[in-house]
Amino acid sequence: MADLVQHNDEIRIVSSRFGKGAASIEKYIALDGYKALEKALKMQPDEIVNEVKTSNLRGRGGAGFPTGMKWSFVPKTANKPKYVLVNGDESEPGTCKDRLILEHDPHAVIEGVLIAGLAVGSRTGYIYIRGEYRYLVDIMRKALDEARAKGYVGKNIMGSGIDFEVYWHTGAGAYEVGEESALMESLEGKRGIPRIRPPFPAVVGLWGGPTVINNVETLASVPHIMLMGGQKFADYGPPKNGGTRLFCLSGHVNKPGVYELPLGYPLKKMIYDVGGGIPNGKKLKAVVPGGSSTFILTAEEADQMNMDFDSFAKRGEFLGSGGVVVLDEDTCMVEFALRVMKFYQHESCGWCIPCREGTDWLKKTLTRFHAGGGVNKDIDNIKYLAQNMLGRTFCPLGDAAAIPTMSIVDKFRKEFEEHLEGKPCPYKMSVPEPAFA
Ligand SMILES: Cc1cc2nc3c(=O)[nH]c(=O)nc-3n(C[C@H](O)[C@H](O)[C@H](O)COP(=O)(O)O)c2cc1C
Ligand code: SF4
Repeated sequence: MADLVQHNDEIRIVSSRFGKGAASIEKYIALDGYKALEKALKMQPDEIVNEVKTSNLRGRGGAGFPTGMKWSFVPKTANKPKYVLVNGDESEPGTCKDRLILEHDPHAVIEGVLIAGLAVGSRTGYIYIRGEYRYLVDIMRKALDEARAKGYVGKNIMGSGIDFEVYWHTGAGAYEVGEESALMESLEGKRGIPRIRPPFPAVVGLWGGPTVINNVETLASVPHIMLMGGQKFADYGPPKNGGTRLFCLSGHVNKPGVYELPLGYPLKKMIYDVGGGIPNGKKLKAVVPGGSSTFILTAEEADQMNMDFDSFAKRGEFLGSGGVVVLDEDTCMVEFALRVMKFYQHESCGWCIPCREGTDWLKKTLTRFHAGGGVNKDIDNIKYLAQNMLGRTFCPLGDAAAIPTMSIVDKFRKEFEEHLEGKPCPYKMSVPEPAFA
């Protein structure tokens, strides 16, 4: 069980039931659970989609695609069954919010699946849970059993005449199966490698049927939207960036944790006020704004950023998955780039050459460079290798490895120069090696 944190600036919507025992169905129902489903069962599918469109809910998995629009891409009629998939693979470094939702409020995810299914005409949902989150499978299995026993899942849900099955499924511990098409391959019992697109999942997805795939937090937001109304949810955030978001604050902050804050919240305030500042009065050096796949921000940039999708898009960057990692002045950015690359090299599925070879070369070069074996031309080579992966891989994992690397070289070139000619690393950051190193 993860510890819960709180701050006065939080607006608790998705996290409103955290710590209240809502994993049990009686408590969930006492806290307005399954009321949104009851409401949705009386609505037309288009009305549900429109409510979600009004909410300006954007996918919380990383890409920030408008959820209502995604649902509207699913064809109304199809000659194959339609599916709703929950992406609970949560493996992006720095991101740990879906875990809390699945642990504290699993019925909100089930209710979100049911409402999404009513909206798109699907009668089957799958909740795909990251392999390492084994304990969450037990929680979800129990929640599904309870929901079935009370008539929210299974035959004739809530006496509506609609049959709706929801299943759980677990991964085997690969970051790549978080990518939506690889997740579908995995769910079909195959090796978790991505599919070529188009066609997109909304048209040809799981077992060839039209499929909606959404992140855990995205779907857990839906029952709240149905109850409070799309407009109210939208009003919590800036235009086109509806609602709140679970930000996972970690790294060099005094009060790390998962905080639910309105979209558009200033990053500086998040670090110094919500996160209680940097330990030992150290200065800020850099921030990973939304999981390791995002462009790194310098301290000066972090001071000016608001945490919403469009503020990042204006800079050609991404808000990402909600994983905010704070790095203090003692952090070695070369070591940090190496740590990030070790992860991507380990997680590359090996399907396409630029990613398989590029991540390996980058890991080797950065290892040598950080150990003091670098030469001047390595610095440009590191950037060149990353640049040659960008946009040239089969799925966005290649981009995810390239983007932080390029931005670290661009923004912290001086630190690479400080490591040249056999000098030992001048910085103090020392972090234990991950298991996959
Ligand atoms: C390598 C890779 C890993 C991903 N991992 C996740 C993940 O763990 N959880 C998730 O929701 N989305 C993940 N995504 C994004 C999904 O492909 C997809 O965009 C998302 O599930 C859509 O849901 P949303 O619209 O609700 O955000 C990943 C993408 C890539 C390329
Ligand atoms: S980019 Fe990497 S993870 Fe994606 S298909 Fe290619 S090798 Fe696999």
